[in-house]
Formats: sequence, structure tokens, C-alpha cells
Amino acid sequence: MFTSKISGLGYYVPENVVTNDDLSKLMDTNDAWIQERTGIVERRHIKKGDGNSTSKMAVKASKIALERANLNAVDIDMIVFATLSPDMYFPGGGVEVQEMMGMRTIPALDVRNQCSGFVYAISVADQFVKTGMYKNILVIGAENHSGGLDFTTRGRGVSVIFGDGAGAAVVSRNDSGKGGILSTHLHSEGKHKDELALQGPSTGYWVPEIIKDNPQENIPYYPVMNGQFVFKHAIVRFSEVIQEGLKANNLSVSDIDMLIPHQANLRISQFIQKKMKLPDSKVYNNIQKYGNTTAASIPIALTEAWEEGKIKEGDLVVLAAFGSGFTWGSVIIRW
Ligand code: ACO
Repeated sequence: MFTSKISGLGYYVPENVVTNDDLSKLMDTNDAWIQERTGIVERRHIKKGDGNSTSKMAVKASKIALERANLNAVDIDMIVFATLSPDMYFPGGGVEVQEMMGMRTIPALDVRNQCSGFVYAISVADQFVKTGMYKNILVIGAENHSGGLDFTTRGRGVSVIFGDGAGAAVVSRNDSGKGGILSTHLHSEGKHKDELALQGPSTGYWVPEIIKDNPQENIPYYPVMNGQFVFKHAIVRFSEVIQEGLKANNLSVSDIDMLIPHQANLRISQFIQKKMKLPDSKVYNNIQKYGNTTAASIPIALTEAWEEGKIKEGDLVVLAAFGSGFTWGSVIIRW
């Protein structure tokens, strides 16, 4: 068996900044409510005509990650692309990245695990590298939420939370014999699938049906979220899966140098931080600037933390996610 490591990181967010005050011009909301409940100050939204899409942002982030890994596009053996907002219903974004980056006819795998997508994708890449099948895998989390949210008062409980962006990591064979990705831990519980979901269009609810019966109260083409229910489950599962990862490696909370939680909501991160008694310096949050970017949130936060010099060689880095499904997971890395 081999071990794997993260050899390059990159992120990209659209230039268009949307503040809470901007949103209050579209719906009945205000800066104080949003900041108090979520910690979000602003987020980025793709602007029509700015040349961005989920896959195009993914390519921009991936190019940076590849450069930092000292690799060319042709060196990549596989793409694992996590998103809930692909450019097309099918095919998925992986093949678009493969084509746009001029990669070989390598496998392109699309992962659909929403906020846990990047953690799931890293785990898949880790297995392929550990078995020796591939050497360098491009792992992406990217989302274009803004095109599909309800920016009227009806949708305010959801639409103020989400933002657009992309992050990428190269997972490579670790030849140093030291550290790398120590373990990954994944879970799901489908009985809560309706608590945070987008029902249609889908094979259960195609576009003609949606158009036919489209009364005000039936809006399956916008995401729904039972916020308090999600919050309660998130804080339990985040803690559980972090502890599970630490235990599997005979480590404890005091060994953590940097925790990168999925940027769901600043209150969730703060709750976990308090529960685990971690100092501010050991938990990275940037939801204030970008909102919740679902599958992109961990790679964007991980890249920023690394760029800011907050992750150093030898550090114990923990990634943890929880989201729609429900799904949740963690990744334990010795950097
Ligand atoms: N602006 C102003 N008022 C609002 C807004 C808004 N954007 N959204 C909802 N309200 C109103 C509601 O209508 C309600 O009004 P009412 O009391 O007159 O009925 C009131 O604010 C309280 O609404 P709640 O939904 O009860 O507010 P809550 O305190 O639960 O906060 C929130 C909502 C922020 C979504 C919270 O439940 C939460 O953080 N949940 C966790 C879910 C989460 O973080 N999701 C992120 C995505 S999922 C993931 O990534 C894991």
C-alpha cells in the first residue's frame, strides 16, 4: 500500500461581491439578521456574462492547484469533481474539466454529496492513490448557487446563506514516507433527505410537470431547508466524525493544529470550536466573505489557510463536513 498527500491547492471566486445590504434590496431581510444568524457579511455571485460557470471556475482553481503541485494537465490520472450545481444535468462537470484543461482520456468521476462532497471526493482519490492505481488525482469542489436561488422574501431563509466559488486539490502519491492523508471517514442517513433538498427538475419531477402545476406554495425547483433541524444534526455529526477520525489514528483534540470545517454557518463552527475547546487560531473560518459554497467551501478555506501560512509541514489538519442527505465525513491529514 502507498500513502497519499495533498500536493497542490487552488481556489477561485467570482469578482462580483454581494453584500447583505444588496440582498435587502431584493427581499425582506437585513444585515443584522444575516450576520447574527449565520456570520455572513458578503458572498460572491456569478454575474451573467462574466465568463464563469461551475466548471469554468473549477478550471481556474485547478490550474492554480496544478501549478503549485508542479504538474501539468497531462500528468493527472483522474478527476473527481464534487458539485450539486453542475453546468448541465448530464454529463457531469468532470468531463468538462477534462476537455477544457486538455487532459488525457483519464477517468472523470462526479461526486454528488452536497456539503460533504469535497470530503467524499478526497476519500475516493485517497483510495485510488493508496492502492497504487493512480499517482496524481485532481479533486474539485465547485458551485454556482446564485443562478438557482429564490431571491424573493419567500426564499430568504435559504438564499442569503449560499455563495458561488471553486476550490481544487491535487492528491498525489506520497513518496516521502512521512505523514500525508492518514484516514477518511464517511457517513450518510437518507431518512433526513427531505430536510435540505432540491426536488426538481428530476426524474421524479420533470420540467413539464413543474410548469403545469406551479402554484405559489409548490416550488420544488428551489432548495428547501429545515434550518433548525439541520443545525441540530450538524453540530452532533461534525463532533462525532472529527472524534472518529482522531480515534482511528490514536490522536486527540489537543493534537489538532488546524480544523477546517465545512463553512455551513459560523454559528455551527463556533459551537464545535467551543465544544472541543479549540482556540481561535486552530479553527479556520471564511464564511464571512464567501457565504456557504457547499462542496467548494472546504477547498477554498483550506487553500486560504495554507496561503496565509496557517498550515505548516508536520501540522495535523482535520477537514470535516456535514450536509444534505444527510451526509457527513472527515479527513485527517499530517501535512
Ligand atoms: N432575513 C430576515 N428574516 C428571516 C430570514 C432572513 N434572511 N430568514 C428567515 N427569517 C425569519 C423567519 O421567517 C422567521 O420569522 P418568524 O419568526 O416571523 O416566523 C424568523 O426569521 C426565524 O426563522 P428561523 O428559521 O427560525 O431562524 P433560525 O434562527 O433558525 O435561523 C438559520 C435560520 C440561519 C437557517 C438557522 O436555522 C441555521 O443556521 N440552520 C443551520 C442550517 C445551515 O447552516 N445551513 C447551511 C446549509 S446546510 C449545510 O451546509 C450543512
